Amino acid sequence: MTQALYRKWRPHKWDEVMGQQHVVQTLRNAVTGERVAHAYLFSGPRGTGKTSVARLLAKAVNCLAEDLAARPCSICAHCMAVNEGRFLDLIEIDAASNTGVDDIRDLRDKINFSPNQGRYKVYVIDEVHMLSTSAFNALLKTLEEPPPHAIFILVTTEPHRIPATVLSRCQQHEFRRAPLDYIIKQLDQIAQAEGIQADHEALTLIARQATGSFRDAISLLDQMASSGQKISLELTQTVLGTAASQTVLDLVDAILENRPDTGLVTIHRALDAGVDARPLARQIVDYLRALLLVKLDNAAQADLGADTLPQVERHAGALPAPEILRLIRLFNAAATDLRGGWQPSLSLELALAEAMERQQPVERPSATGGEKLPATRSRPEVPPRPARGVQDKSPETASVPPAPPLESAAESKSATGVVSLDRVAKAWRQIRAAIRSSNPALEALLNSCKLLEIKDGFLVLGFASDILLSKMNTLEQLEATRRAIAEVLGLNLPVRCVVSNARQSAPPDVKQDGMVAAALKAGGEIVDIQD
Ligand SMILES: Nc1ncnc2c1ncn2[C@@H]1O[C@H](COP(=O)(O)OP(=O)(O)O)[C@@H](O)[C@H]1O
Ligand SMILES: [Mg+2]
Ligand SMILES: [Zn+2]
Repeated sequence: MTQALYRKWRPHKWDEVMGQQHVVQTLRNAVTGERVAHAYLFSGPRGTGKTSVARLLAKAVNCLAEDLAARPCSICAHCMAVNEGRFLDLIEIDAASNTGVDDIRDLRDKINFSPNQGRYKVYVIDEVHMLSTSAFNALLKTLEEPPPHAIFILVTTEPHRIPATVLSRCQQHEFRRAPLDYIIKQLDQIAQAEGIQADHEALTLIARQATGSFRDAISLLDQMASSGQKISLELTQTVLGTAASQTVLDLVDAILENRPDTGLVTIHRALDAGVDARPLARQIVDYLRALLLVKLDNAAQADLGADTLPQVERHAGALPAPEILRLIRLFNAAATDLRGGWQPSLSLELALAEAMERQQPVERPSATGGEKLPATRSRPEVPPRPARGVQDKSPETASVPPAPPLESAAESKSATGVVSLDRVAKAWRQIRAAIRSSNPALEALLNSCKLLEIKDGFLVLGFASDILLSKMNTLEQLEATRRAIAEVLGLNLPVRCVVSNARQSAPPDVKQDGMVAAALKAGGEIVDIQD
């Protein structure tokens, strides 16, 4: 293959431009009505057709076809010249290149000469936001009084960087990210025409990766095809390091059915197949976002393939919006957790575990502090959630409100005895030691948190970030901590975790009212601890 596929497949006629009907229709009308403006601004993400449409317009205004509605015909001498990059009256300037400024100056000098071949001189200025202020000023002068034979098409991915004075002179058109279905269709068509063997699911995955850019999609296809192998879903997953959307669908099913085992198996199957944990988490977030859009009656924006629609609708129906939001936060934290290098799947597993945990029925603790863990909330400011996130649960359990941890302060005392934060702090090292052998990760977490206070019968632990919090905030971790405290101090003191940005307080095993604590309160920082 000599020519990059995306160049080879540049739209040559209006009808070949996909997904930008709002732009194409206006421009077509202008051509047939001979009302083409003298300055346009095309903005939008890369690979959505801005350059292609600019060339189409350049062809249309210079096309030799009699019938205005047939322009550009793409077969007359002028159209062919544009297609082959040798039409003298199409001047393409890349403002991002270092010759950009000179080109603009050059443009000002030459603009008044008549066209060489065609009716119009068309200037396409790509990446126009990169022009310097002086270049913009030069451009503005020409835009103020353009000769009748000149048409300017300014192209940018960052319209907010264009001076208002320039904007006001242009007819603006916004290019949109392409819907997934269009990209799949395009890839299908190209694969067939080029004799590239590819599974439909593989093309879907490639299209998903391209996030709305035709060019990125076609380039990915090109890259995959260069291996010479058939483009299977498996190969695509391996090369792109992504998971099939089926994984995501299965995962959401598992969450809905409250089956952590199935969920973990799904994750591990994907990881074993060479999928990266972080992109997988990102795909989950994308999908949940799409569910939210469907719920908000915005399915058109959700970019979902028709093939997944039945599941999407089922999922959207079963998950209340706040629950979807909660899941988005959880998996987003996993997707952005950059520190899980030693165990990349961990943050994903923890997100899944927490996703499931909240769907457990909330149980009231017995006043005597039985085996059961009281309801906990990750942060005090989060309003109480419905006891269950899923609709098809029995009404009795669903109506149980999240109970306050303990019935009253009096009972709290009878259950835990009077316990001061100081007492817990003094025993903290021992408590961690009790956990270390069975759960070193938990011990590390407990080493990185702050003992904030004892409130409503809970020991409140402060964590520096959402990610640390989500690692700690699982049923298992909280329960293991409670057990260790019970073992060492002989009292039932459940823990609750919050994200705390408070100034560094004395680490748990430093005397809370001693010198070090005082220094920290005054703004000091611990830089080293020697045992
Ligand atoms: N709307 C579209 N319809 C069909 N193909 C497109 C579209 N947008 C981009 N492409 C494909 O991507 C390639 C690059 O598009 P281009 O017009 O240069 O995008 P932009 O200028 O917006 O970055 C085109 O040659 C074509 O193969
Ligand atoms: Mg372009
Ligand atoms: Zn033509």
